[in-house]
Amino acid sequence: MEKKLRVAVYPGSFDPLTNGHIDIIDRGRKIFDKIIIAVLHNPSKKALFPVDQRVDMIEETFKNSQDIEVDSFDGLLVEYAEMRGAIAVLRGMRAISDFENEFQMALMNRRLSRKVQTVFLMTGLRWIFTSSSIIKEAAQFGGDITGMVSSPVKIKLEEKFRKFKERNI
Ligand code: PNS
Repeated sequence: MEKKLRVAVYPGSFDPLTNGHIDIIDRGRKIFDKIIIAVLHNPSKKALFPVDQRVDMIEETFKNSQDIEVDSFDGLLVEYAEMRGAIAVLRGMRAISDFENEFQMALMNRRLSRKVQTVFLMTGLRWIFTSSSIIKEAAQFGGDITGMVSSPVKIKLEEKFRKFKERNI
């Protein structure tokens, strides 16, 4: 009999993907057979990169990984997860400050669907202070973001802020 794949959805804004996210994905792939990285279409949140570019950067980062799929979604996360046959939603936890919001989301998701479990993984200590926003801020002012993002993301971030600078000169 064919073994059913254990699939998890790893949702987020990923504006852009950071090495903190990659740390969670690498931990998650030890537990699940396949991880679908799902970028949320969220028109109410102002983003630096459009969704298709965020998806491209993630695809480029994981280009040789058979167990990773990159997709985008809108609407309810649990509906998307069920539709994709996922048994879990994967979320990373950095510090206590993440807890309240994550707990609330997980309980809401559980209320909305009993078929999908939320699995929290602790990020590696070196990524505790890493976030897309802080990396964008550093990059914006010319800070070196090497080692905080994958090289496809670093290239796009530097390109983006170089263009901003050129336009503002
Ligand atoms: O990277 P983020 O911004 O912390 O990710 C938040 C995300 C995408 C996980 C969350 O906003 C989400 O799941 N949105 C989809 C809408 C939804 O299902 N809401 C109800 C549960 S809170």
